[in-house]
Amino acid sequence: MKAFLICGICCAIFMTNSCNQQSATDNKQAEIDSLKNITSKLKPGLGEFMLQIKYHHDSLGKAIAIKDYERTAYEIDEIKETAERIEQLNITNDKLQKPFAIFYEKYLQSPLQTLADAASKKDDAALKTNFISLTNNCNSCHHENNMAFMKIQ
Ligand code: HEC
Repeated sequence: MKAFLICGICCAIFMTNSCNQQSATDNKQAEIDSLKNITSKLKPGLGEFMLQIKYHHDSLGKAIAIKDYERTAYEIDEIKETAERIEQLNITNDKLQKPFAIFYEKYLQSPLQTLADAASKKDDAALKTNFISLTNNCNSCHHENNMAFMKIQ
């Protein structure tokens, strides 16, 4: 009888314990979920990053026009860095059809690289034509992602 009682108490303790553990895990999960929710709200939206890209795109155009090669190289780098942040933070939205990285590779990577090379060689003709290609590619991506009306000049 005694043994049975002890066994019963042990079982009860064991069950309460595992029950507590369960609710502790539930609490942790709830905390993780709420932190995830907060971080996603703190992330800038794609549009905010695009405004930064636009600023650097326009500054790049001006720098090329006045043959300021140092500024040109700087603005190219800033566009790259902004695009990398979009990738790192996994920024997405309802208009974007695929992960941003795929479009970056398709539309921006190569013209930015060519522009960087042209800036280091102070090659004005290459800078001018590749800046036009870059702008056209901004618009192609907008076209492909439900933003055809967003025409960059
Ligand atoms: C993924 C392909 C993609 C590429 C490449 C791209 N964009 Fe965008 N852009 C978008 C999408 C999608 C939006 C809509 C964002 C939104 O819903 O807020 C957008 C929006 C914009 C906006 C409007 C932002 C606002 O909130 O008003 C500007 C300006 C812009 N892009 C500039 C550029 C420039 C300049 C380039 C090229 C250097 C470029 N974009 C390249 C996809 C792209």
